[in-house]
Amino acid sequence: MDHQRIPADRPVRIVVIGAGNRAHKYLEYARRHPERLQPVAIVETNDLRRNELADRFGVAESGRYNDYNDFFSRPVAADAVLIATPENIHFDPCMKAVEAGYHILLEKPIAQSYDECRAIARQARKRGVLVGICHVLRYHPYFVKIKQIIDSGELGEIISINHVSAVGIDRATHGYVRGLWRRAEATNPMLLAKCCHDVDFLLWITGSPCRKISSFGSLRWFRTANAPQGSTERCIDCPVESNCPYSAVDLYCNRRDWISNFDVPHGKSLDEVLMEELKQGPYGRCVYRCDNNVVDHQLLTMELENETILSLSMDVFTQDDCRRTHIKMTHGEIFGDEKSLHVRRFRSGSEQICDFEKLAKSPFHAGADLRLIEDFVDALTRPGHPFRTAVEESIESHRICFEAERSRLSGKTILLQS
Ligand SMILES: NC(=O)c1ccc[n+]([C@@H]2O[C@H](COP(=O)([O-])OP(=O)(O)OC[C@H]3O[C@@H](n4cnc5c(N)ncnc54)[C@H](O)[C@@H]3O)[C@@H](O)[C@H]2O)c1
Repeated sequence: MDHQRIPADRPVRIVVIGAGNRAHKYLEYARRHPERLQPVAIVETNDLRRNELADRFGVAESGRYNDYNDFFSRPVAADAVLIATPENIHFDPCMKAVEAGYHILLEKPIAQSYDECRAIARQARKRGVLVGICHVLRYHPYFVKIKQIIDSGELGEIISINHVSAVGIDRATHGYVRGLWRRAEATNPMLLAKCCHDVDFLLWITGSPCRKISSFGSLRWFRTANAPQGSTERCIDCPVESNCPYSAVDLYCNRRDWISNFDVPHGKSLDEVLMEELKQGPYGRCVYRCDNNVVDHQLLTMELENETILSLSMDVFTQDDCRRTHIKMTHGEIFGDEKSLHVRRFRSGSEQICDFEKLAKSPFHAGADLRLIEDFVDALTRPGHPFRTAVEESIESHRICFEAERSRLSGKTILLQS
């Protein structure tokens, strides 16, 4: 779809809704390239976060909003909106931004139902605005390399793929048991929240529509019935804490992991904030006694129109925090874990190994976050430059995740109509 361009001789003026972790990543591009991207308003419910980000970019008082409805009723001049709020706050601000004629960069998942996703795409088409979805894997050099090898045709056609999204135990207990993504109705089913990127990647490299899916999984472990004898509501005073692999004391205080998102108000230290959290906050709770309801393991199988079959396993019970992919093709195979990529050819028996070890550790998803927002700015300013995943294309991965949930809950294989 074509949309109205913005003159390339000035920065794209962007409004940020939700000044959390993701917004900071994308705004690093504005810090490095102020001539191309300029934040002109920050909408954020948390005073500390709003003012910190607004101060950093010199956003005037008139461009600081607590509520996005205030922004839409009293807007400052802008070209685009970045929506990086929690996923239950995507649809409403996105529809309002589309209505108001802004181009939008929307964090995944698009919305909380397939109908809402379609409504956004429909309105965007009608209003002639671009709605780009943040599928960062399409900008990540390791995943781009896989796509290039497949597209070159040198290994023939894809027959099947086994893909593993290793969420990892620490990320899972932090985000999906104690944290923001623990309840499906408040955010989304876990497959959509965590793995819509993986499904998008699989559709991207195979290039064939999905026709059949089935899915299995449940909340098997992180529930009260599995709490060890003698354990208590909070890790901080739990007598069996020292033997628990999911201890919040160990994760946040001993290992200092997953602590960057805790706000530290002026006059307080991070340690004081962590101690308060352990005593009173959601992140200090026993993993067996939270109000979580999303799955802790799930398998999705897909059959494509061209008879390729795919499996995606979302694994929580592992220390790995990576994606592993094994692609079986007619003339060879590709296997990788983000650190290295092995390409084997059947006829010669040769194996080529690409090393991504250093890159895998580099910030901003190996630079993918910055390339993604640059692509968005290019799409708005350069005629004929398409954004890699506009909402129309991203919708299919979302449909599959919604249908996977239906299959998981009903125990049925779902046939997808085109
Ligand atoms: N593309 C990726 O790789 C990737 C990675 C992680 C998260 N995400 C997605 O990005 C989105 C944001 O995640 P995050 O990790 O940045 O979360 P976050 O909690 O760090 O940031 C969200 C911010 O939105 C603010 N907020 C909440 N309600 C608001 C409202 N009504 N108006 C304005 N601001 C509001 C919160 O105070 C918070 O500062 C989620 O949809 C998440 O799934 C994407």
